[in-house]
Amino acid sequence: MNRTELESIARAMVAKGKGILAADESSGTIKKRFDTIQLESTEEARRSYRELLFTAPDVANYISGVILYDETIRQKTKSGTPFPEHLAKLGIVPGIKVDMGAKPLAGFPGETITEGLDGLRERLAEYHKLGARFAKWRAVIDIGKDIPSQFAIDANAHALARYGALCQEANIVPIIEPEVLMDGDHSIERCEEVTSATLKAVFEQLHSHRIHLEGMILKPNMVISGKKNTNRAGRQQVAEATVRTLKRYVPSSVPGIAFLSGGQSAAEATEHLSLMNQIGNLPWELTFSYGRALQDEALKAWGGKQDSFAAGQKAFARRARLNGMARNGSYTAQSEQAA
Ligand code: 13P
Repeated sequence: MNRTELESIARAMVAKGKGILAADESSGTIKKRFDTIQLESTEEARRSYRELLFTAPDVANYISGVILYDETIRQKTKSGTPFPEHLAKLGIVPGIKVDMGAKPLAGFPGETITEGLDGLRERLAEYHKLGARFAKWRAVIDIGKDIPSQFAIDANAHALARYGALCQEANIVPIIEPEVLMDGDHSIERCEEVTSATLKAVFEQLHSHRIHLEGMILKPNMVISGKKNTNRAGRQQVAEATVRTLKRYVPSSVPGIAFLSGGQSAAEATEHLSLMNQIGNLPWELTFSYGRALQDEALKAWGGKQDSFAAGQKAFARRARLNGMARNGSYTAQSEQAA
């Protein structure tokens, strides 16, 4: 493990004014996204859509890193440049999703464990050769009646830490992603309780596994009401609860925290981030690593049509710019009209 190298990659990933694009949808997930625009998910359609994102004008001003999927890291721009090389030339750090998905946890109905540790050392070595300098592993914690169990939280935290140690051994910065889902009807208080228990377990495991905290990035959910809750907490409350929780559980040696959007609308995710950065006096960089909240508008504007390629790029660049503003708290709801 080269600590200096890990630290400098991690710092580049959370550079001021920028954030991370999660474009690592698995073949199953991207098919679901394409279904919303009635587009067949062929390999060329997936390549073309990723090219739209990665070649959008001024993208490097707002995007510090891109998370790729196994297929995508091997694909090329139309002019023949491999995507990781294209991104690196723009000063954008290429990354790779390495988990194999959340599978049912035997004996624990309704809970999951993320798979993908077997053979991971060899896969990381190959991804490093292909240009990846960071990786992502997503653990999923669902909130429901009698769940999550402490056992499922601990099992997922343990797997995250084992993955993190293998990444650092390969000089790849691990994004540690424990996602508490916002799918249910739970309150923001319940989300805070579960997020707290999850972060506590995750950092205990990271310490036990001798993770170099200065060479990792945390990718958490925000502390937010469930989507089906009929009395959802307001945006300022989400910002305050999230910052409070992170301050309690995330050591200041971690260089940056990059949120997932988790089903929030684009404007909601941008505003939450901006409000948190307005609170200020934070020990880490607070940034974004959004998938849907960065891509939804672009996907719609493109619609799978060659004629709308530029329109899709424009929509993506606009949302990336607005999130870039949220990095220093200068985005407000009014910015939506101005942009
Ligand atoms: P969303 O922002 O759409 O939640 O995706 C981020 C991500 O990478 C989830 O693993």
